[in-house]
Amino acid sequence: MAHADILSRLNTLRDEIRHHDYLYYVKDRPDISDSQYDRLFRELIELEQAHPELVTPDSPSQRVGASPLQELVKVPHEQPMLSLDSIVEQNEVLTFDQRMKRELETMSVEYSVEPKFDGLSIELVYDHGIFTRGATRGDGTTGEDVTVNLRTIRSLPLQLQSQSGFPDHLVVRGEVYMRLDDFQTLNRRITERGGDAFANPRNAASGSLRQLDSTITATRPLVVTCYEIMAVSLPVPPTHWEELEILAQWGLPVPTHRRLCPLIEGVMAFHLETESIRDTLPYEIDGVVVKVNRRDWQSRLGMKSRSPRWAIAYKFTPRKEITIVQDIVISVGRTGTLTPVALLKPVEVGGVTISRATMHNADEVARKDIRIGDTVKVERAGDVIPAIAERVPVSGEQRNAPFHMPDHCPVCGSTIGREGAYFYCTGHLICGAQLKGAIEHFASKHALNIDGLGKKTVAQLVDQELVRSLGDLYRLTKDDLVTLDGFADRSATLLLESIAASTTPPLDRFLMGLGIRQVGQHIAKILAREFASLEEIMLADQERFQHIREIGPEISECLATYWSEPRNRDAIVQLKKSGVRVAPGLAAGDRKKSPLAGKTFVFTGGLDYFSRDDAQQAVETMGGRVSSSVSKKTSYVVAGRDPGSKLEQARTLGVTILTEQEFASLIGRSEK
Ligand code: IVH
Repeated sequence: MAHADILSRLNTLRDEIRHHDYLYYVKDRPDISDSQYDRLFRELIELEQAHPELVTPDSPSQRVGASPLQELVKVPHEQPMLSLDSIVEQNEVLTFDQRMKRELETMSVEYSVEPKFDGLSIELVYDHGIFTRGATRGDGTTGEDVTVNLRTIRSLPLQLQSQSGFPDHLVVRGEVYMRLDDFQTLNRRITERGGDAFANPRNAASGSLRQLDSTITATRPLVVTCYEIMAVSLPVPPTHWEELEILAQWGLPVPTHRRLCPLIEGVMAFHLETESIRDTLPYEIDGVVVKVNRRDWQSRLGMKSRSPRWAIAYKFTPRKEITIVQDIVISVGRTGTLTPVALLKPVEVGGVTISRATMHNADEVARKDIRIGDTVKVERAGDVIPAIAERVPVSGEQRNAPFHMPDHCPVCGSTIGREGAYFYCTGHLICGAQLKGAIEHFASKHALNIDGLGKKTVAQLVDQELVRSLGDLYRLTKDDLVTLDGFADRSATLLLESIAASTTPPLDRFLMGLGIRQVGQHIAKILAREFASLEEIMLADQERFQHIREIGPEISECLATYWSEPRNRDAIVQLKKSGVRVAPGLAAGDRKKSPLAGKTFVFTGGLDYFSRDDAQQAVETMGGRVSSSVSKKTSYVVAGRDPGSKLEQARTLGVTILTEQEFASLIGRSEK
């Protein structure tokens, strides 16, 4: 084929595929069979493979393929992306209408009303008719660039249709969401592979769109609908209704279920009708959006700081269903917070089956007086995760005893701490439920700064039991790592290198990395300034902490509680055994004057008051060293119960021998 012929065939194929994509994904009215479509697509791919120089970014073949991103880049919006004020009651919508009439000094206002889609808001930019950029709403001023992910959405045209001409520059706002049936299929697929299901279609849409790897987004069934022109290089149509029509002419998907209402009564009727068909719609909506139709009036009304005056979200009342609490279990979160979860007799609330509802804390359970066996009303209001609205008293019911939080963590058995209404597991590093969060925190930038130890990797390491404690990180081998998803020889080497680079952390970073409650960067720095070593901190009591400036009773208690949990101390021992050497604190310089400075100790026999680890830490803290064998250089041998041959050697070599009590008084702790 001649070059010109190839080019023209490519153009024809692309136009045809675009047209069929539009009919299928936007209009929902395909006019060819799947196999005919596949044939066209295959021909395009083959031709493009033979002539890679002719591939264009707006070709339908280019929806997927970019390599994974490191992070989502922040981008400023051309126009601020406002949000909407919302109302629920009929009288509020009447008040809204009266306000519009008053401010516009008119007797009647026409409204354009459409569904309020429950997804996430996005900005789409088309330059010369080509989709060039898309971003999430973010804080309204700056969003995240999700262009490559948006390209994978089939209902989003990569090129505007041109019959009636299109603008050079167009910025539109729309919503990305997931259909309910697709959401359920996706969740099934995820849970079958052992993953965590999304709580609702909106989270699923958001999680899918905010992926770093667009090949994952491509497997997620996202759809898009556009509802506002934010900037355009052509004159804007005079009404919102015509604005939607022109967007549709350019090939963009717009809400099809919508109504023009010359009177506010029409708006109320549309709201009511839409609510009644809500459960039959294939996607989630949580109300309708009422917009003043005339754009000149919209401009006259203007906006408040974060929302326009000319539009309002008229929401539906949250859906409630009645069911029974079969059990109340405790879930332990990544930070150790215990959350009571009601296991419910499965009930369908607006198309989604609910079988559990989280309650924030023990106070909420007590306030609502929820007990096992109770009949309750559960609600799911749009983006809200299922919640128990209230208990429904049943006459003559025999109720169970009130619910109480457990004394020990249901996952690891550690004791439970309390902060106000919140209960938490003190087991931190040894609690399986918290291990993932703990490792992520330990590896984070302001702590040990271990590059390449992200969420996904940590989850795999813990799930595959390659890491059971922080110390295990330092025992990982290349063979372990290459078995993980997303790892190859080079990435494994890089991770091992960054782990190795973290073996001598500064004291403050190490402390911060432990994730002790209330001990962030600032407090960690204060502690590192105040103490000479990690060991000294481990030996300090609550009172000692409290004497430090900026450390009040709450932080002192958190510190003391943390160190009183033997398994937290053990985690440190394990880290040391794996070769981690925490650098001394800033106060270390003062310890040169210590009576133990430069002295070598050998312990033999059983100690009554100290554990061996404690004794060793005490010596090291005060500038001494502990050795396992006696020589002429040994300063002291501490002889406990049933001492071994080391005592004999000490006598022979003339080394000073101490009893445990003498040792205790030497280090200034006669009574333990
Ligand atoms: S118009 C300046 N129309 O609702 C007007 N918003 O609660 C901006 N939303 O962040 C919004 N469906 O994500 C508009 N048909 C619709 C909508 C809609 C859903 C979302 C949008 C916005 C949120 C405000």
